[in-house]
Amino acid sequence: MTEQRRPLISGNWKMNLNHFEAIKLVQELSYAVSRDDVDAVDISLHVPFTDVRTVQTVLEADKIPFFLGAQHCHFEASGAFTGEISPTMLAKLNVAYVLVGHSERRQLFGEDDEMCNAKIKAIIAAEMKPILCVGETLEERDAGEAETIVTSQIEACLQGVKAETLEGFVIAYEPIWAIGTGKTATAADAQDMCAHVRRVFAKLYNTELADSLRVQYGGSVKPANAAELLTQPDIDGALVGGASLDAAHFAKIIQYRLAE
Ligand code: PGA
Repeated sequence: MTEQRRPLISGNWKMNLNHFEAIKLVQELSYAVSRDDVDAVDISLHVPFTDVRTVQTVLEADKIPFFLGAQHCHFEASGAFTGEISPTMLAKLNVAYVLVGHSERRQLFGEDDEMCNAKIKAIIAAEMKPILCVGETLEERDAGEAETIVTSQIEACLQGVKAETLEGFVIAYEPIWAIGTGKTATAADAQDMCAHVRRVFAKLYNTELADSLRVQYGGSVKPANAAELLTQPDIDGALVGGASLDAAHFAKIIQYRLAE
């Protein structure tokens, strides 16, 4: 077993912050995070499309070692898709990671596993890394179906995706009932499901690839619960919504090691 997975802590800004506010937050965060932090943890910022170019410029001009991320993209490279943004457009702006299948996209914008599958292939083809989001609703958890749902999401979203393209792949386990609600899965429940995600991935591919898979937990991660969640053996990072909009809070999550 290789237990050398580098944690990835991702801030999902959702539909918040214009490009001026984005500059301020990135700069505040860069002051709050130390060299030791970025040596220990990868950090990605998933900003709204209108902030991507601006944040790219700030990161590159000030040599801030955060990865640029997006929250969504289309699966075609170009064409008549009014309102959409293509993977190649994002890649051109040095976007490194793109969220796929976030529950808000699934629930509010009809994104299904088939679309996620096409997006994953397109993002990889554009030489970026997808972060595939999976997770169950409260009803599904109460009905004892959480593992089945997560398994079927992973299997469907990775249909036909070749092992050799999955180096450095990231799956974010986000129980839908924990997103933006202040409710967090217990560290034990989160660990169990993240271990399940790794087992499903190992079965689809192989143990070596599954050992290198980074599994994030997401859903009301905050400074107070980050250390407990992030020190679980199968949790390799966090996908953080609300708390990533506050530089001090997000920096504390990134510095979870110091709270141990
Ligand atoms: P939250 O959002 O941290 O505000 O619960 C997490 C997410 O939606 O990725």
